[in-house]
Amino acid sequence: MDHVTKLIERNFSTAHGELRVGTVSAIDVAADFETPLYVYGHELLERKWRALRAALPEEFAISFSVKANPTLAFLQYFLSKGCGLEVASGGEMHRALESGCDPLKIVFAGPGKTESELEFAIASRVGEIHVESLLEFERVAAISKRRGVTGRVALRINPCESSQGGALRMGGKSAPFGLDEECLDDALNRVLTEDSVEFQGIHLYIGTQILDADLLLGQYRHGLELARRVATRVGHPLQTLNFGGGLGIPYFEHESELDMAALTRGLLQLMEEARSDRRLQGTSFMLEPGRFLVGEAGIYIVRVNDIKVSRGKKFLVVDGGMHHHLAASGNLGQVIRRNYPVAVLNKLDSPDTEVVDVVGPLCTPLDALARDVVLPRAEVGDLVGVFQSGAYARSASPLEFLSHPSPPEVWVEDGRVRLIRQRGTLQDMTEVSRDPAPGSRADGDS
Ligand SMILES: Cc1ncc(COP(=O)(O)O)c(C=O)c1O
Repeated sequence: MDHVTKLIERNFSTAHGELRVGTVSAIDVAADFETPLYVYGHELLERKWRALRAALPEEFAISFSVKANPTLAFLQYFLSKGCGLEVASGGEMHRALESGCDPLKIVFAGPGKTESELEFAIASRVGEIHVESLLEFERVAAISKRRGVTGRVALRINPCESSQGGALRMGGKSAPFGLDEECLDDALNRVLTEDSVEFQGIHLYIGTQILDADLLLGQYRHGLELARRVATRVGHPLQTLNFGGGLGIPYFEHESELDMAALTRGLLQLMEEARSDRRLQGTSFMLEPGRFLVGEAGIYIVRVNDIKVSRGKKFLVVDGGMHHHLAASGNLGQVIRRNYPVAVLNKLDSPDTEVVDVVGPLCTPLDALARDVVLPRAEVGDLVGVFQSGAYARSASPLEFLSHPSPPEVWVEDGRVRLIRQRGTLQDMTEVSRDPAPGSRADGDS
């Protein structure tokens, strides 16, 4: 069985050759809300949530990483599960607060936080600012002093290379993220002498889309070692140890699901060691995943608008593309371009007979959702679905490129369909005109 068929069997169902999300026909949803659009299945979210919660020891808290999908319905869904939120900009912090998140359950990471973002975080009393440099720490200290409040920080550590198990990702090499582990002692010399700031713990994040449980466990082990080391230096256990996110989902034929049983086994062993270590007593452990929790729940659906053959190659020209799904177009930092799982959603029982490129309406050769993919013979009006599109799809795409309205988002739960974000309108794109409107006073006129 091919990868797409397996994926559909695992996560969806079909009736008369058409895709169903839960009990709802994806074809009807596309007709009702029009294409292009994103559709999310609540059941899938539930399944992933339960899988992660069950895999983690109970002392692990989970914060959803907002950047994966910042739509309010998602934030509120995770709040309803008791999660916190990980944000990486003032905008995400604003969304987190708007969603009703207790500020204490917000952690704020990311390099290059501006003074005003830090000011906003400290004024909002967020749970923890993950400091990415000593200059950032000085800014937190200065703002805290000026405001007469105690800023709460954790140090984000860029682990040393030898701890990376050979798999270099965001950590272990030169990176703008966090403080190099080699400089930790010097950083602590400064941090521990600052009264206006409360040093709570450490944060690690080595990278995304990790499908190897051993690699994750190696990082968790390293995080625990660092926490022990820093606790010894500080003279008491840390309040928090944040292991980051990074748990992956299978996108491509050669990828398999993360082995959650292996992850659990390894974590239980690590926790057994941790529980008997007084340097870790009372330390709260946290993960902040995004992709694993929401990636599988979303499908990006587009309609075939034109079909053409150019010099022997067939193109399905669809009504959406890389401006809504940069990752599927292969332009979000992929080294090797591979097709996301795609299918003709209204022809799932038809045989795959044609090799085609599925391309979008943008005037650039980069705008392809799938290249040389084998699909059933498609016609104008058919629906193409890009699976695994719940994370870093809309949120990581250049939505304004070519000024198409941004697609709506639809949530399917218990047979009901709910619009959770409206389609953008052309009016959304209004901006200040260069020329003053007729009759208005020009700048500088007296
Ligand atoms: C600091 C931080 N935490 C969490 C995440 C979420 O990662 P993932 O979606 O791979 O779980 C990211 C993603 O870039 C991140 O930068």
